[in-house]
Amino acid sequence: MPGLTAPSDYSQDPPRHPCLRINSKQPFNAEPPRSALINSYVTPVDLFYKRNHGPIPIVDDIERYSVTISGLVEDPRKLSMKDIRMLPKYDVTATLQCAGNRRTAMSKTRKVKGVGWDVSAIGNAVWGGAKLADVLALIGIPKLASSTKTGGRHVEFVSVDKCKEENGGPYKASIPLIQATNPEADVLLAYEMNGETLNRDHGYPLRVVVPGVIGARSVKWLDSINIIADECQGFFMQKDYKMFPPSVDWDNINWSTRRPQMDFPVQSAICSLEDVNVVRPGKVPVRGYAVSGGGRGIERVDVSVDGGKTWVEATRYQKIGTPYISDDASSDKWAWVLFEATVDVPNNTEIVAKAVDSAANVQPQNVESIWNLRGILNTSWHGVQVRVGHSNM
Ligand code: MTE
Repeated sequence: MPGLTAPSDYSQDPPRHPCLRINSKQPFNAEPPRSALINSYVTPVDLFYKRNHGPIPIVDDIERYSVTISGLVEDPRKLSMKDIRMLPKYDVTATLQCAGNRRTAMSKTRKVKGVGWDVSAIGNAVWGGAKLADVLALIGIPKLASSTKTGGRHVEFVSVDKCKEENGGPYKASIPLIQATNPEADVLLAYEMNGETLNRDHGYPLRVVVPGVIGARSVKWLDSINIIADECQGFFMQKDYKMFPPSVDWDNINWSTRRPQMDFPVQSAICSLEDVNVVRPGKVPVRGYAVSGGGRGIERVDVSVDGGKTWVEATRYQKIGTPYISDDASSDKWAWVLFEATVDVPNNTEIVAKAVDSAANVQPQNVESIWNLRGILNTSWHGVQVRVGHSNM
């Protein structure tokens, strides 16, 4: 019996936290209540969003589990968990975000296709594992290589889960070889999440974590790695998770005209308030998260109660001593910041937040300008409607 197998139905999926908001049961897709995200800088595993395209794979025998690395390499190999654990272990704090985060709000403008997510298809975890750059060095691919001698330029990760989009085949994705071999890109083959063995929902026994890149490229339940000439031709790279302009709809789409989405843009959301919360007149604390892709840190977050005419700058409230801008090695450059601002709310209003990253990229004001038919990357200003009244808040 092989080490890792995929059931064809959902009867063996693991138990989950009752607080998760289920967006689809089969496959299981769920997010925590937004308030859970700001309770801690590191998101607890059981409250971390779960994004699956098929039933959760099972490890029959961890001793027999191995990852095959082959393709355009001179020295293909099978690596056991023991081989991977022998490599130096790194703990990387990185925010994972589904490209579909905040899709529900985008679909209010114009219908989009995909699982409906509120603002919590995101979480921040400490991922523990080996650097992919070290793993590839084991098979003779040097650090910072952009191609192999036999013409490999991309690294494809293949799982075992049965995805209907792949006609029952496994989930797969790729990243450029130059990113995979760059130790500073911190791409991991992770076997731990928040200091514990990775659990089944999040990819046990081994998953890829590509920091700063949409979650879709962080393949769970890793089965094999292929060094290939062109990027992966799988469904989730070529027919999904691409950003189209608002002018493209299902009757005029040509998937080959766009690149697969990799880095995610600057994003923020208010998590201390839900729409229609009733607040006491006066000072209202506003808390949430802000994050940007590609290792760009968060420069600042602004909050407005008058539709953007005036703004209050938020402060960050976690991890005292960590620089606000992630520009040195000691900062968590792949991680979100949690922000807090206190604003005056005399009347019923919408409170909005926007973040600015270290490259001065700013979230767009309106969702209409970034609407796309798959509803990905809704990074428009996040707003919550509040009513002023008497409450126990
Ligand atoms: N890997 C496999 N094998 N199968 C999947 O369905 N989903 C991807 C990615 N890796 C997926 C996968 C997507 S779209 C996201 S956003 C993240 O895993 C979600 O990771 P999480 O469930 O650990 O939060």
